[in-house]
Amino acid sequence: MSSLELNGRKISLKRGDITREEVDAIVNAANSSLLGGGGVDGAIHKAGGPEILQQCKEIKARQGGCPPGQAVITSGGKLKSAYVIHTVGPIWRGGSGNEAETLASAYRNSLALAEEFDLKSISFPSISTGAYGYPLEQAAEIAIKAVKEYCRKESGSIEAIYFVLFDQFTFDAYKQALQS
Ligand code: APR
Repeated sequence: MSSLELNGRKISLKRGDITREEVDAIVNAANSSLLGGGGVDGAIHKAGGPEILQQCKEIKARQGGCPPGQAVITSGGKLKSAYVIHTVGPIWRGGSGNEAETLASAYRNSLALAEEFDLKSISFPSISTGAYGYPLEQAAEIAIKAVKEYCRKESGSIEAIYFVLFDQFTFDAYKQALQS
């Protein structure tokens, strides 16, 4: 575990499976259809059960899908966390398509939604660095910067922010970003 205290809030890195987190909300690296997929999306739907997909379908029926950089919220179903915040990271297309801003927005909008629900703790995966191909070091820097920016706010319900990283390589990249 690596962690950093900032303005009374704590950012922590840990290795593991995000579906096992006991926090108010875990964040899903979803796709715009909100209908599930592989990777962390697949793991969350598998562990959380059909209730989560049902709520995603209701959101889709109401507002269409979830554009990259935006976030929606459902219950946690069978998960230990009360909520799942589904956000959509950018697909890496070489960096000229505003991917960095879209990735930062995915973190910012997930935090804003958690705050709207007065949540105190949230766990993020490494958004976009799997199937979406975002270069890991750049993504980690953007993620840590966006979360540090949140921690510097004077008000806000969130007290603990976790990054739950699935492999050592990803963990090391986030540790490097946290320490820089
Ligand atoms: N817990 C934590 N992290 C996980 C887990 C898990 N259970 N499973 C995978 N990961 C990690 C991956 O190793 C990677 O580091 O999450 C990170 C993000 O990888 P993806 O899940 O592939 O997400 P992303 O790159 O954002 O691609 C999203 O993939 O699964 C589909 O439906 C999803 O279309 C969307 C796309």
